[in-house]
Amino acid sequence: MTRATFDDVVDRLRERFEVEDNQKDDTPWGADELRRRLADKDGVLTTGADRVDSALLDAAPRLKAVCNIAVGYNNIDLAACSERGIAATNTPEVLDETTADTTWVLLMAAARRITEAERWLRAGHWKGWKNDQFLGVDVHHATLGIVGMGRIGQAIARRAKGFSMRVIYHNRNRLPAKVERATGAKYVSLERLLRQSDFVSLNMPYSPSSHHLIGARQLAMMKPTAVLVNAARGGVVDDAALIAALKDKRIAAAGIDVFEGEPNFNPGFLGLDNVALVPHIGSATRATRAAMATLAARNLAAALAGRRPPNLLNPEAWAKRRR
Ligand code: GLV
Repeated sequence: MTRATFDDVVDRLRERFEVEDNQKDDTPWGADELRRRLADKDGVLTTGADRVDSALLDAAPRLKAVCNIAVGYNNIDLAACSERGIAATNTPEVLDETTADTTWVLLMAAARRITEAERWLRAGHWKGWKNDQFLGVDVHHATLGIVGMGRIGQAIARRAKGFSMRVIYHNRNRLPAKVERATGAKYVSLERLLRQSDFVSLNMPYSPSSHHLIGARQLAMMKPTAVLVNAARGGVVDDAALIAALKDKRIAAAGIDVFEGEPNFNPGFLGLDNVALVPHIGSATRATRAAMATLAARNLAAALAGRRPPNLLNPEAWAKRRR
């Protein structure tokens, strides 16, 4: 287990397996240390910050399962796992509602300048009420554009009903009419979404095809009053281009949970008032993080017992799995 998690999850795994954990220290294991530690392991519980590539897998000749405690799995080279008959799993569904909540927190904080106003208040600047103090933009009755309309995108759309919003979406594939009706969201091209939305929420996985999906050209299409929210993955947005757009007020504000190169994010963000920043906490509630760890442990236990894990990402590996 590469990082610390809830003790009861570790205890339950210990009933069935010999476990090497990182409970006490919780310092990330670098590539060399991971290679060394996985040399004699049958399975590993990873987080999104652990890079699982050919070099690591080559150093782990017994490895049968890589179980990510995350829904995203861009840290894992799936093809390299499949080639070697190693099962890879993630933790879908259990974090959808919490991550949708986080997206809304960021959306509203950016719209109403909450983090900026709090910093100002804490710094002792408040001398009295003023008509034009921290004027933001309205959320209610605005147009919300969701890019990436999977389970999390749909959960965000459902919440928009309470704010009487118009919801438009863009996705690789258009959703079935039944889902569109249930979410009240209308399918549009990415360009139309960017031009029409007051709020743009990004909710797709990171992959080479979503790398810098939002860059200078796309930001230029957005309204100057618009707010961008990224609770998806660093790299989906060109952060340097976003910083330039926020600085020049080409868009009004942003709410950001994930960064390119995190935790070493672009320091340009820190000089800006019109961005709400949080350190990758999309799924960070006690209940949801416990559900993710429990699900990942279940995937691991299944794979090591020779049972197909519930969230297998690479079915092609299963037929030729290591035993
Ligand atoms: C978090 O970023 C996740 O992918 O679960």
